[in-house]
Amino acid sequence: MSTQHKVPQKQDHQPGVESNMHPAPQYIKDGYKAAGKLQDKVALITGGDSGIGRAVAVHYAMEGADVAIVYLEEDGDAEKTKKLVENTGRKCILIKGDVKDRGFCTNAVEKTVKLLGKLNILVNNSGVQVPQEDLQDITEEQLETTFKTNIFAYFHFATAAVKYLHPGDVIINTTSVTAYRSSPHLIDYSSTKGAITTFTRSLATNLVKNKIRVNAVAPGPVWTPLVVATFDQEKLNEFGNETAMKRAGQPSEVAPAYVFLASDDSSYITGQVIHINGGEVVNG
Ligand SMILES: NC(=O)c1ccc[n+]([C@@H]2O[C@H](COP(=O)([O-])OP(=O)(O)OC[C@H]3O[C@@H](n4cnc5c(N)ncnc54)[C@H](O)[C@@H]3O)[C@@H](O)[C@H]2O)c1
Repeated sequence: MSTQHKVPQKQDHQPGVESNMHPAPQYIKDGYKAAGKLQDKVALITGGDSGIGRAVAVHYAMEGADVAIVYLEEDGDAEKTKKLVENTGRKCILIKGDVKDRGFCTNAVEKTVKLLGKLNILVNNSGVQVPQEDLQDITEEQLETTFKTNIFAYFHFATAAVKYLHPGDVIINTTSVTAYRSSPHLIDYSSTKGAITTFTRSLATNLVKNKIRVNAVAPGPVWTPLVVATFDQEKLNEFGNETAMKRAGQPSEVAPAYVFLASDDSSYITGQVIHINGGEVVNG
């Protein structure tokens, strides 16, 4: 067990709740220095209340962006993230609802534009995973939930967002190391993550004509509510030990990649995936 997980704590309900996590994930590193890289931009982040999404929201706000956060039901986590964003002097709106519903996705984009004035950065980041031992254990209902949440919603948000995006704006998707190295117990989940990678590449080449860049981040094991809500205690005890660094990552170690991909620093990069996984070399 890595030192940061001396008391890893299991939760029984998905989505997990960050405020109940022990140890608490780190969403920003002490001493992070912002440089106005996203000054006066507007970002919409799905799954933005907690975990990687919260860290992205806080980094974006520190870099000068206003933020809209989409989440399913975790009001306490969402309110805390809103406060963290507002503490930087930026605006934050909370949009609660189910990304499996296409109408909700479209409305969330429109609400963002209406309340924050525009949209420059779409971060598709919501996700679910339900580990199963065997293929036969994946019910039709689970299959549909996983695909609707993890990849259909990414299409729906992108489709609604594109009409508001201008040259220089970006879409960033959250895929996973499981898309590259497989996962015997997350067959449906890893399949959606593979789809997200390919969606990223295809949409990127499609939107080059609009000067809109589309990239993705592929996290390895990162200490978030999703993890404590879906893995058993044994897996939590060892979470991250399989990496070269022999530890899980923190959301604070993942979010700076989303800043890079959203900012003009990455102006010659599209259709690519940044791998943040503690040193696992993966192809693609
Ligand atoms: N934590 C990891 O080890 C890890 C590794 C690779 C990829 N990821 C990916 O990172 C992304 C963020 O997850 P996280 O680990 O930060 O956990 P998290 O629990 O903080 O985030 C998951 C988010 O998805 C949202 N969500 C789930 N179902 C939804 C629905 N039907 N409607 C609206 N929102 C819904 C939840 O509200 C939550 O905010 C996910 O796409 C996940 O697959 C995580």
